[in-house]
Amino acid sequence: MAANAGPMQKNPIVAIYPGSFDPVTNGHLDLIERGTKIFDRLIVAILRNLEKEPLFSLSERVEMLGEVTRPWSNVEVDVFDGLLVAYARKRNARVILRGIRAISDYEYELQMALMNRKLESQIETVFMMPAEAYSYLSSKLVREIARLGGSITGLVPPVVEQRLRTKVP
Ligand code: PNS
Repeated sequence: MAANAGPMQKNPIVAIYPGSFDPVTNGHLDLIERGTKIFDRLIVAILRNLEKEPLFSLSERVEMLGEVTRPWSNVEVDVFDGLLVAYARKRNARVILRGIRAISDYEYELQMALMNRKLESQIETVFMMPAEAYSYLSSKLVREIARLGGSITGLVPPVVEQRLRTKVP
């Protein structure tokens, strides 16, 4: 539970954690867990991206994220399209949560955060770092390793590992 949570809270802080989550990794989960501790409510929002051909369908990603975030009562899984800041406004979120793994993430993330601020100055982007053990982990690498027959144990939750095995036997 976040620090200002509880029956007396006047101004609950809602944060959006947006992404493709194709698939959700242990790095995402690490960040979600950190987010649940400082925000009252965390909405994990999956982008419906019509341009990219995902490995997992939107409903598969919703199912997997729902399952792995079940331990946290203040986490919700949702789908969005269009502008992230418009979605955040609609959900009364004041924060966009993003993970930064390495310096290489920073430039792209800074650009997005500043553009989002230009579009909607009332919404703050908060960056958090996942545990070092996940600093080299990405959904893209997980998909590639699975496709090429490598082991993804420890990189993704067991439910995702099982589904990946059936996707790319
Ligand atoms: O997991 P990803 O692919 O790094 O997430 C990227 C995401 C979903 C955060 C970004 O593509 C996004 O916010 N898309 C929504 C469209 C939008 O608002 N674009 C302007 C960003 S400045």
